[in-house]
Amino acid sequence: MHWRVWSLISGGVAAVAVLLGTVGAAHAAMMPPAAARAGLAVVQAHCSACHRETAPGHFARISEERKSPEGWAMTIFRMENVHGVRLTQKQLRTILRYLSDVQGLAPSETRAGRFALERRPNHPILKLPYNLPVMCGRCHSLARVALTRQPASEWRKLINFHVGQFPFLEYQDGSRDIRWWKIASTQLPAKLAKLFPLHSAAWRQWRNRPRADLAGVWIVHGDMPGRGDYYGTALIRRRSWDRYRARYVLHYANGAAFNGSSDAIIYTGFQWRGTGTLGGKPVHEVYFAAANGSRIRGRWFLAGHSEIGGDWDAARTTGAPKVMAVIPSALEVGTRQRLILVGRGLRGGVDLGPGTKARILVRRPYGLILSVRVNAHAAPGYRTVRVGGVRSRDLLAVYRRVDHLEVEPAFAIARLGGGTLAPVDAQFQAIGYTNVLGAHGRVSAVRLGAMPVTWSVAPFNAEAAKRGDVRFAGTLRQDGLFVPAEGGPDSKRQFSADNTGDLYVVATRRTGKTAVVAKAHLIVTVQRWIKPPIY
Ligand code: HEC
Ligand code: HEC
Repeated sequence: MHWRVWSLISGGVAAVAVLLGTVGAAHAAMMPPAAARAGLAVVQAHCSACHRETAPGHFARISEERKSPEGWAMTIFRMENVHGVRLTQKQLRTILRYLSDVQGLAPSETRAGRFALERRPNHPILKLPYNLPVMCGRCHSLARVALTRQPASEWRKLINFHVGQFPFLEYQDGSRDIRWWKIASTQLPAKLAKLFPLHSAAWRQWRNRPRADLAGVWIVHGDMPGRGDYYGTALIRRRSWDRYRARYVLHYANGAAFNGSSDAIIYTGFQWRGTGTLGGKPVHEVYFAAANGSRIRGRWFLAGHSEIGGDWDAARTTGAPKVMAVIPSALEVGTRQRLILVGRGLRGGVDLGPGTKARILVRRPYGLILSVRVNAHAAPGYRTVRVGGVRSRDLLAVYRRVDHLEVEPAFAIARLGGGTLAPVDAQFQAIGYTNVLGAHGRVSAVRLGAMPVTWSVAPFNAEAAKRGDVRFAGTLRQDGLFVPAEGGPDSKRQFSADNTGDLYVVATRRTGKTAVVAKAHLIVTVQRWIKPPIY
C-alpha cells in the first residue's frame, strides 16, 4: 500500500485555483470565503451521511478535532479505505485544505511533533508524561498523539477505535506487561485532553491572524548528512493566496552548484509543503514559517527515500545584520581556507580573533566569501566572529587535533529492500571534537562538525559474527551511507534466513600514527510495507 499523500498534500501537480477574495467573518484570516465554502460543500456531500451536521458547519466527530494536514490525510484515507468514502483528487485537495485551515494547529502546537512530519530518521522517542510512551509509543511515534487536539470524549473514542480495528492490540507490541485497555479507557482520555485540548488560547489567536506573505528573496543554509553544508538564496513568488513557487540557487561548501525549484502549498498560514527538485533529484519539503513570516525552517527529503535529506533554514535578506552560519564550522591550525559567512547586512571588516587573518574575496547576497589563514599557534576553541559591529559566538571553532569522534546517529535502523520496495538506507556522519582547557582548568569538548573518515562495519556481537551479518546485510559506502541488501529468504544463509543484521558502524580517522575511532549500532531489519504520513 503506497500512500498518495504527497501528490495530495504538496503543491506538485495541482492546477492553481485562484481564490483570492475578501476576508469573510466565518473563517476570518485563515482562508478566503470561497475556499471555505468549497471545503464545507465537500464535507456536507461526502461526510455528513455518517457524521451528522448537528449545527450549521458543525459535524459530529469531524468538528471536534484539530490536527496537521498529514493527520487529516491519514483520517480521510481511512474513511476511503475502511468506510467506503469516494473522493476525486480535486475534492481531496479541497477538503484537506479546508480541514487543515479551519481545524488545524497553531505553530506552538506543532513543535513537539515536527520531527515526524519532517520524517527525520532515527529520531528519539518523544518525552511525554504519565505512561504515554509505553501506552501509545510502541506501535507508532508519539507525534501522532502530540499532533492531535480533541476533548476527552474524542480521545476515548480514538482508544475504542484502536481496539475495534486491532482487537489483538493488547497481545502484541509488548502490551502484555501492562493492563493496556484498563489504563487507556479509564485514565488516559482526561489526561490526554488536558495535554492536548481541542480549545486553546494559541489556536484562538492564531486562527484570526492574517497570513504572512512569504514572497521575497531569502538567504538559505542547511546541512545534508553525508554531503555536508550548503548555502545560497531562494526566490519565492506568490501564485495565489496559499501557493508559492520557489527557485533555489545554492552551493555546496566547495562551491559546486546545488540548484532547484519547488511548488508549495501553505497550510494553516505557516506550514509549507512543497514538491520540486534539488540538485537534479525529486524532493519534498516540510517547512514551517515563523509567525511574522521572517524565517522558514524544516527539512527536505528525497521522494521515495525520506531518510535522505537535509535541514533547511531560510531568513529574509532584510532585517537586522546577522551571521546565520559559518561554512565550514571548524578550521585546523596551520591552514589557509575558503570560509563562507552566511548572513545579511555584513558590512565592515572581518575579525576571527588572534592567530587568524581573514580577507574578503567577494560579497554575495547570502553573505561573504573569505580567504582565511590560521597560523600554527592559534589557540583552539570557539571563536567570536566579528563583522563590522556584528558579533556571533559558537559558529566557528579552531582546532589543532581531533581528540574524539562521535558517530551520529548513535543508533539507527535500516530496512531491506527488494521487488518494488526501495530499501530504507541509514546515513551516518562522524562528528569531530577537540578538547579545550577552560578558565578553571576544566576541559570541555568543542564540536567541530562532520569529519572525513574511513567507514567499516563489524558484527555487533558473537551471534551476528556467527550468522555472517556483515556479509549479508548490505554495504556501507565511504560517504557513511549504509545501503541494505535485498530481502530474503536467502538460500546462502543458515535456514535460508532473511538478510537482516546486527552491526557496528565504525568510523576511523587516522593522522600519522594515531587513530581516533567511534562506533554506532545499526540494526538492519525487514521491510516496512505501510508508509503513513506520520510514522
Ligand atoms: C460510511 C460512513 C462514514 C463516512 C461517509 C465518513 N466517515 Fe468518518 N468515520 C466513520 C466511522 C465508522 C468512524 C469511527 C471509526 C474510525 O475512526 O475509523 C469515523 C471516524 C472519523 C473521525 C474520527 C477519528 C479520527 O481518526 O480522527 C473523523 C475525524 C472522520 N471520521 C472524518 C471523516 C471525514 C472528513 C469524512 C468525509 C470525507 C468522513 N469521515 C466520512 C464513518 C464514516
Ligand atoms: C497496537 C499498536 C498501537 C498502539 C498501542 C497505539 N496505536 Fe495509535 N494507531 C495505531 C495504528 C495502526 C494507527 C493507524 C490507523 C489507521 O489509520 O488505519 C493508529 C493511529 C493513531 C492516530 C491517528 C488517527 C487517525 O485518524 O489516523 C492517533 C492520534 C493515535 N493512533 C493515538 C494513539 C494513542 C493516544 C495511543 C495510546 C492510548 C495509541 N495510539 C496506541 C496503532 C497503535
